Amino acid sequence: VILTLTLNAALDVTYAVRALIPRTAHRVDDVAERAGGKGVNVARVLHALDEPVLAAGLAGGTTGERIRSLLTADGVPEAMTPIAGESRRTISVSDGADSTGFWEPGPVVSAAEWARLLAAFRDHVGRAAVVVLAGSLPRGVPAGAYGELLAVARATGVSTILDADGEPLRAGLAAGPDLVKPNLDELDALVGHPDGGVPAAIDAIRRLGARDVVVSLGADGMVASAVGRDGARHVWQARLPDRLAGNPTGAGDACVAALARGMARGVAWPDRLRDAVALSAAAVAAPVAGSVEVAEYHRLRPSVTIEET
Ligand SMILES: Nc1ncnc2c1ncn2[C@@H]1O[C@H](COP(=O)(O)OP(=O)(O)OP(=O)(O)O)[C@@H](O)[C@H]1O
Ligand SMILES: [Mg+2]
Repeated sequence: VILTLTLNAALDVTYAVRALIPRTAHRVDDVAERAGGKGVNVARVLHALDEPVLAAGLAGGTTGERIRSLLTADGVPEAMTPIAGESRRTISVSDGADSTGFWEPGPVVSAAEWARLLAAFRDHVGRAAVVVLAGSLPRGVPAGAYGELLAVARATGVSTILDADGEPLRAGLAAGPDLVKPNLDELDALVGHPDGGVPAAIDAIRRLGARDVVVSLGADGMVASAVGRDGARHVWQARLPDRLAGNPTGAGDACVAALARGMARGVAWPDRLRDAVALSAAAVAAPVAGSVEVAEYHRLRPSVTIEET
């Protein structure tokens, strides 16, 4: 099973309005609710591909209850650790063309709750082939959380993927994740713009502790530095010939889902990247952020180009 961990799970609420006009009241035409947060999105995408998954993390209050029941309704097995604080909602107001977001601050997690989460993680990790740690940390969770969790996974011999930002990412890197997937902004925040561009930035991230690195480049696909089946390190660039129109929110989560699946199954890296590019494009093509159009994934897969650099 692939275990995903979402420490700051969210209830994603989308309001559809005809036009968004500041300083006025709006009649909302449609309200859509979904369980969200990066790890939750990864779990939902994996489930859509019939990959066995378990969505763990923290969820609290009536919003937390709603997140759990929406996951269950989607058929995604969950093992969220309950907390006293109220999980956050993310409100997106969409007028069809553009979207405006309101991100709630989320709960404050107590030391006892964090200890309970670590204990639950220790229980689940032994059954996992791959662990995905993804997203921001709620207040109260120590900045070194990902380092602690990665150390537990490593001691159990489970493979790990970390998709985070800023200090939580830096602290996690020191614990040696098997794979990290920064986007260009996250890359810049971490190692700046070294001479030598993305390949040099990837080397800098490896020096911080990651074994393999996939940098996602938005519509330009991704660059991977990874150890292949031959035991040697390779650098590949993978992309589609054309950019797709659509909603790129959650494309990175679909990318991580494909990389986790490839890792769990021991798929050769070029094929792993083919899957990651096609599946993340299938997320751009999907009307709802954070989900994928599975037929589109199969349709796009043959047109992905992989180049070794
Ligand atoms: N317009 C697009 N057309 C085709 N593929 C795209 C497009 N935008 C993104 N992708 C694919 O999605 C992958 C991930 O996108 P991106 O680099 O934006 O991730 P991210 O910033 O981590 O996203 P997220 O908002 O989910 O965190 C890219 O590597 C690329 O393969
Ligand atoms: Mg991302």
